[in-house]
Amino acid sequence: MVRSLVGGQRRDGETTFASTNPARLAETVAEVSLAGPDTFVSACGAAREAQAEWAAVPAPVRGRVVANLGRLVERNFDALAALVTAEIGKPLAEARGEVQEVVDTCDFFIGEGRRLYGQTVPSEMSDKQLFTFRSPVGVVSVITAGNFPVAVPAWYLVPALLCGNAVVWKPAEYAAASADALAELIVHSGLPVGVLNVVHADGESTFEGLTGALEQRLVDKVGFTGSSAVGARIGELAGRFLQSPCLELGGKNPMVIAPDADLALAVDGALFSGYGTAGQRCTSLGTVIAHKSVAAAFVRRLSEAIASAPIGDPTADVLYGPMLNERFAQRFEGYLDWIGEQHSVHGSTSTGRIGITNPRRGFVGDPASGLFYHPVLVDGVGPDDELFRRETFGPIVGVTSYEHLDEAIELANLPGYGLSSSIYTNDPATAFRFRAGVNAGMVSVNNSTSGAEAHLPFGGNGLSGNGSRQSGVWVLDQFTRWQAVNWDFSGRLQKAQMDTAVTVLDLTPDLEYTLGT
Ligand code: UN1
Repeated sequence: MVRSLVGGQRRDGETTFASTNPARLAETVAEVSLAGPDTFVSACGAAREAQAEWAAVPAPVRGRVVANLGRLVERNFDALAALVTAEIGKPLAEARGEVQEVVDTCDFFIGEGRRLYGQTVPSEMSDKQLFTFRSPVGVVSVITAGNFPVAVPAWYLVPALLCGNAVVWKPAEYAAASADALAELIVHSGLPVGVLNVVHADGESTFEGLTGALEQRLVDKVGFTGSSAVGARIGELAGRFLQSPCLELGGKNPMVIAPDADLALAVDGALFSGYGTAGQRCTSLGTVIAHKSVAAAFVRRLSEAIASAPIGDPTADVLYGPMLNERFAQRFEGYLDWIGEQHSVHGSTSTGRIGITNPRRGFVGDPASGLFYHPVLVDGVGPDDELFRRETFGPIVGVTSYEHLDEAIELANLPGYGLSSSIYTNDPATAFRFRAGVNAGMVSVNNSTSGAEAHLPFGGNGLSGNGSRQSGVWVLDQFTRWQAVNWDFSGRLQKAQMDTAVTVLDLTPDLEYTLGT
C-alpha cells in the first residue's frame, strides 16, 4: 500500500485507489491510500518545521545530497523505468529517457550547489558595498501530473531542495507507485526527515488542503503541472495570498511546414511528437500548419508513417502504448467527437478504442487487455474548430494550411496557448521570423515540438502558463528570492540619492563645452 509521508512517518489515508497498469488493466500496480485535506496541512506544517535547519546546511553540502540522489537513481535505473512503464504505459525506451532526465537534472544541480551565485554591486556612495543573495522561499508545495511521473517532479523537487526549501509533493494518483519510488530514493539520499513530504490525495482534497495551508501561512510557493483549467484555479488561489505560482500547463503546439522543408524529416518529427507517449505530453504536437504547396504530400506521407507504426505493448518497441488511465481514455473519446464533416480522417483504418471488433493491423500484443486507441490525423481543421483551438491530450493531430508566413504565425498563436512550437525550414529568415512572431516559450527548428533538454528554460505563455520557467539556472528564480544587502563602512549616515557626490576628487563637468570653439 502506497501511503503519504509526513514528517518522516507513513500515514494512512481515508480512501483507497487502485493504480492499475493501463496496458494490462487486470494488473494492479499499487493500492494507494488517499489522504484528506488535513494531512496536506500537516505535511506543510512538518515541512515548515524542518525547513530552517535544512536551509542552514551549506549549499555545496546540499548539493552532495542531490549527487547521492543521482547515483541512487542510476543504481535503480531499470527498476524505476520498468515501474513507470507498468504504471502509466509509456514505452520502455521513453521511460528510460525519463529516468535519464532525473539523473541529468541531478547532475546539473550538483554544480549549482557550489554556485548559487549572488552578486557584488558597486554603491553610489564611497565606503559602502552592495550585495545580492539568493534565499530559499521556504515551503514549496508541488502538484504534478502523471504523464512524466518522475522527470517532471524532479524538475521541481531537485532545485527546490538544492535551494534550501522543504517540499510537500502531491503526485498524480494514477502514478503513485512511481512517485513513491522516487520519494524513497530521495529519502535515502541523505535528506533530513521532514524536508520532503508526500501526500497522496485526490484533486479536491488537495485544493482544500492547499487552501488551508496557505491560510495558515504554511506554504510560500506553489508549483503545478497539469491542465490550464486547474492551473487557473491554482493561480487564483495563490494570488489571493499574494503569491505567484510556478505553472506548467497545457499546450496546443503548432508545427509549421515551410515550402522548403525536408518533408521526410518533418514526417519523423510529427510522428514522434504527435503520437509518441500516445500524444500525452504537454509538448505534444497539436496542429500541423503546412504550406499549401506541400500540405497534400505531407498528409499522405505522415498518414503512411502512422499506418505502419507499431502500436501496443509498451514493454515492446512501439511508437506508443495505452492511454495513461481510464480518465484520460474517456476524455480522449470526447475529443474524437470534435471530428466533423468538414474534416478528412487519415492515418488509420478506424478511430476509437482498438479491440477485436475495431482492430488495428500490426497491433503489438493483445489490444483487449488495455486502453489502446487508434491514431488519428485530421485534415482540414480551421480556427472555428474545437479541434484547432483546444488541447487534445491523446494520439490525434490536426492539419491546416497556409499561404504566407504571417498567416502561419497567426494560426500558430490563435488558440492562445504558448508552450512549444516547431518549424521545418532551411531558410534562416523564415526560422527567425517565426521565432520572433510565435508566442511560445519554446521553439524548435527542424525538430519536433517535444523532447526538450533538461537544462534549457522550460515553460509557456498564455494558456500554457504564467511565464514561469523551469530547468537550468532559470528555475532558481522560482525557488529562491533575491535579497539585496547594503553594508556601509563609512562610519556615518550616507543617504542614497542625496549624499552621492561626496568624493575627494572634483568631478564637476563643463557641459557648455562645444568642439571647435
Ligand atoms: C510534460 O509533458 O509535462 O519536452 C513535460 C518534453 C519532455 C517534457 C514534457 N522532456 O517533451
